[in-house]
Amino acid sequence: MNIILTGDRPTGRLHIGHYVGALKRRVELQNSGDFDEVYIMIADAQALTDNADDPIRIRSSVLEVALDNLSVGLDPDRSVLFVQSGVYPLTELCFYYLNLVTIARLQRNPTVKSEIRQRGFASSIPVGFFAYPISQAADITAFDATVVPVGEDQLPMLEQCREIVHKFNETYGETLVMPRAVVPENEAASRLPGTDGKAKMSKSLNNCIYLTDDSETVRQKVMSMYTDPGHIRVEDPGRIEGNTVFTYLDALSTDDHVAEYWPEYANLEEIKAHYQRGGLGDVKVKRFLIKVLEEIFSPIRQRRAYWEARIPEVVDRLEKATTVATAKAQATVERVRSAMRIDYFANDTFLREAIERYT
Ligand code: TRP
Repeated sequence: MNIILTGDRPTGRLHIGHYVGALKRRVELQNSGDFDEVYIMIADAQALTDNADDPIRIRSSVLEVALDNLSVGLDPDRSVLFVQSGVYPLTELCFYYLNLVTIARLQRNPTVKSEIRQRGFASSIPVGFFAYPISQAADITAFDATVVPVGEDQLPMLEQCREIVHKFNETYGETLVMPRAVVPENEAASRLPGTDGKAKMSKSLNNCIYLTDDSETVRQKVMSMYTDPGHIRVEDPGRIEGNTVFTYLDALSTDDHVAEYWPEYANLEEIKAHYQRGGLGDVKVKRFLIKVLEEIFSPIRQRRAYWEARIPEVVDRLEKATTVATAKAQATVERVRSAMRIDYFANDTFLREAIERYT
């Protein structure tokens, strides 16, 4: 079986960084026909690990993230788009996996480390947050996922999950499926910077292009994008490195885009070479990026309008998908219980052992 599981934390609307880093790939994989089952999880329980005091923020983002997924082409007839907290067996799996991981190992997880720093938790780290890589291993293994398409920042989570699978199977016998990560092969797409050139896109920095932005908003955001501060006059040679507009083009544009919107050049490399030589102004490059973004966003906007006009159907589908996901995860829990020899009442073995001992 080939099974995909991946997900997003619902802490706000998704942006273009999510799109190139994760969403685009998952839709391609969904459409590839190579997978028997595709599960896309809205990770609200994980989002609560560092938002315990703000459940309304998570609640209001759940539908947003569902719509973001549907608008990029996730097909709810082919993929199970569900809500994590509704799948109770995940908490049970997590509880057993907690025993297989040391505190020292969690402390070495580089993504958790940097998130702890960012959030200023210092010595007041919530246990649930600290342990979320273990809960994430439960998410992945509950669905027997073979492939987990994620952004590069999630590689340490997959590494930890693989260790848990290994440890579980070694301790209790071959039970869990070993997953592997699939990350964007495009370097720029892995780490798309904010429009201001800062490494991270974040709502608080106000440097994101959202999938819900309209054409005019996208245009304005691109026009104010960070480029090369040394490129003052058009004739000046320009720098490509650290130039956000070019990073976005690296992540998003194709030769077809160049042929369609800027046929004076054969490909992006020629555009870059001209910019580096001097004689190519920022505004022209930005106009090209705007056209590329429009081409990408326009079907996304159409699908979004379709689903926004059908909100009761979206909510109903989320609920049904959560039931489907629960049945799948429950089957794994039963396998796990039996491997761990805690399946006392699943059959009569426990009873027979007991009788034998007392007669
Ligand atoms: N940690 C992921 C993120 O922050 C979300 C997530 C939760 C996830 N569970 C998962 C991703 C399981 C892949 C597989 O985006």
